[in-house]
Amino acid sequence: MWLYLAVLVGLYYLLRWYRERQVVSHLRDKYVFITGCDSGFGNLLARQLDLRGLRVLAACLTEKGAEQLRDQTSDMLETVILDVTKTESIAAATQWVKEHTGDRGLWGLVNNAGIFMPTAPNEWLTKQDFMKILNVNLLGTIEVTLSLLPLVRRARGRVVNVSSIMGRVSFLGGGYCISKYGVEAFSDSLRRELCHFGVKVAIIEPGSFMTPMTMNERISQGFQEAWDRATPDVKEIYGEKFPASLIKSTEILKPKWPQNVSLVTDCMEHALTSCHPRTRYSAGWDAKLFYLPMSYMPSLLVDLMIYWSCPRPAKAL
Ligand SMILES: NC(=O)c1ccc[n+]([C@@H]2O[C@H](COP(=O)([O-])OP(=O)(O)OC[C@H]3O[C@@H](n4cnc5c(N)ncnc54)[C@H](OP(=O)(O)O)[C@@H]3O)[C@@H](O)[C@H]2O)c1
Repeated sequence: MWLYLAVLVGLYYLLRWYRERQVVSHLRDKYVFITGCDSGFGNLLARQLDLRGLRVLAACLTEKGAEQLRDQTSDMLETVILDVTKTESIAAATQWVKEHTGDRGLWGLVNNAGIFMPTAPNEWLTKQDFMKILNVNLLGTIEVTLSLLPLVRRARGRVVNVSSIMGRVSFLGGGYCISKYGVEAFSDSLRRELCHFGVKVAIIEPGSFMTPMTMNERISQGFQEAWDRATPDVKEIYGEKFPASLIKSTEILKPKWPQNVSLVTDCMEHALTSCHPRTRYSAGWDAKLFYLPMSYMPSLLVDLMIYWSCPRPAKAL
C-alpha cells in the first residue's frame, strides 16, 4: 500500500516537473514590463530576462537607477521613469509601452515596485503612514495593471504580482502586510476574470531576502522615526526600551542563512516563460518550510508563536 502511494506521489511530481519545463516559443519577440527596476528583485529580473533575449521594458523610479541598469544590459533593454503612485506617470508609461509593443501587445507585466516602511506597531502610526505603503504596494499595482491590461490581453500574456509571505501571515503592524494581503486578493480575482481571455496571473510570495528594502539600518531607522512621532501616551504604554527590543526581535524574520535573490527572480522568470506557470510561487526556504506551513496553522497557534517571539510593552498586563 505504501509502495503504491510512493509511486503515485513520485509520478505526480515527475509529470508536474515535465509539464512545467515546457517553455513558450518566440521569447525574443516578447515584451515584458517590470516596475521597480532600480534595485533588488526588479533590477535582477530585468538583467536576467535581457540575458535570455526577451525584450525588457524596465520601469525605474529614478533616472540614476535607469542609467545604471542600461549600463549593465544590452541595447534591447529600454527604460522608462515610473512612479506607481502617480496617475500621470502611469499614463505616460502606458503610452510608451503601447508605442514599443505595437500590435503584438505586452506579453508580461511584473508588478514588483514596493516599499516596506513605515512599519511599526499599529498604534505608533497614522493614517498617512498606512496610505504611504498602500499607495505604492497595492493601489500602484492595481492602477498599473488596469492601465496595461488591454495590452496584456492583446498578447494573451501574463501578469506577475509580487506579494510576500507577509501576504499570508500578518507578522507586523502597519500597511505592509495589509498591502500584500490586498495584492493576493486582487490577483485571485484577476486570475479568475482573465482566464476567459487566455491571460495567466501568477503570485510571487518571497520569504526574507537581503535587498535594499530589508537592510538593517533602513528598518531600524524606520522604527525609530515611527517611535519618535508616537504620542506620549503610546510611549508610556510601550516604554523607552521597546524600540530596541523590537528591532532585535525582527531579526527572527531574517533567514538564518543568506538566500540567493535569484531564487525569487527564477520564479518570476518561470511565471513569464513556462507554458504552464504556477498560480503561486513560494520563493526561499524560510517561505517554504516555515511561513507557508504557519499560514495553514490555527490562529491560536500562530498568535502564540508571534506572542513569544515579540517583546512585551512595559505596561502589558
Ligand atoms: N526583500 C524581501 O525580503 C522581500 C520579501 C517579500 C516581498 N518582497 C517584495 O519584493 C518587491 C521588490 O522588493 P525588493 O526586496 O527588491 O526591494 P527594493 O530593492 O527596495 O526594490 C523596490 C523597488 O521599488 C521601487 N519603488 C519604490 N517606490 C516606488 C514608486 N512609488 N514607484 C515605482 N517604483 C518604486 C524602488 O525604487 P528605489 O530603489 O529608487 O527606492 C526599488 O527599485 C517588493 O514588492 C517587496 O514588497 C521583498
